[in-house]
Amino acid sequence: MSTLKAPNGKLITLLLLAIIGILFTACYPDNPQSTFDATGPVARSQLTLFWVIFWAAVFVFVVVEGILVYAAFKYRRKPGDGDPHQTHGNTPLEIGWTIIPSIVLIIVAVPTVITIFDNANSPDPEGALQVGVVGEQWWWEFNYPDPNDPDNTLITANELHIPVDEVVNITLDSRDVLHSFWIPKIAGKVDLVPNNRNTMWIKGEETGTFYAQCAEFCGESHALMRFWVIVETREEFDAWLESERADAIEPTDPLAKQGKAIFEGPQAQCWTCHTIKGTQAQGKIGPDLTHVGRRTHIASGIRENTQENLTEWIANPNAVKPGNIMFTQGQVYNDPQLALSEAQVAALVRYIQGLQ
Ligand code: CUA
Repeated sequence: MSTLKAPNGKLITLLLLAIIGILFTACYPDNPQSTFDATGPVARSQLTLFWVIFWAAVFVFVVVEGILVYAAFKYRRKPGDGDPHQTHGNTPLEIGWTIIPSIVLIIVAVPTVITIFDNANSPDPEGALQVGVVGEQWWWEFNYPDPNDPDNTLITANELHIPVDEVVNITLDSRDVLHSFWIPKIAGKVDLVPNNRNTMWIKGEETGTFYAQCAEFCGESHALMRFWVIVETREEFDAWLESERADAIEPTDPLAKQGKAIFEGPQAQCWTCHTIKGTQAQGKIGPDLTHVGRRTHIASGIRENTQENLTEWIANPNAVKPGNIMFTQGQVYNDPQLALSEAQVAALVRYIQGLQ
């Protein structure tokens, strides 16, 4: 007696439905990471290259599998068959299956090489906007040099603003390990390598906010190393740049003033790692917070910039982004005697939210 049971029909139906459901999620039109919805020339050229390679692969698959299936059925062993006719070598066939793959490889290689060089060489290397990108575990620094004043570089973090329809030349550096810069709908991916500057260019063709992220495994919170790209009109961009260069707003309400005192005080010492322009805080280890209150997200793009999220982030950053330097190095998180009280966190949150 066999103990094997026929597969449960309901289970198979459920499994199939689950698989179909998962496949259908790929059709969701607003997928923020979809490279099939390219909105810039770099991403579009990469998409075109994808389709060339995809159809070349489909051609190879159909031809090879077609011949295989045809041969398997047509020449399958039938009752009464003896040994098949033995063949050794077939020159025309061998020439054919050398030439045809060579042609397929050329069809793939030519557009690949063209796309690589097109994406590496900026169409406007001198005149275009220059932006420096620096990868850190696990956030992004963006800096905007002032073409008229080399000492006046704007440093910001985690939200990359670019003007629409303009070529933006980007330099990529890393302060620690390998990262990779990727804005799925606009351009990607180029690695950020310590001590080796890479360059790329991007251009956004639609205004809006675009999802972006690190695409190279870089440690515990790699998956949480995200950022947002804001593509805006030239006027909006200029206004943003101008306002970002300004010093921080001095807090006026008592709670925010208290927060500033904690930020700069000996217990929290936030100022040793963060810069807030116009104050004594000039640290370079963490993100520049001069106008952090304006950013839509905190903690490198992973949480909306709300009072609740900021409170959670400051109270226990490790719960939001495991292994981050603020948690591993900050004395308030490592010395129970120095831990921040709820009231102190609330004051810090008020101060930081006011940094508009
Ligand atoms: Cu940075 Cu992954």
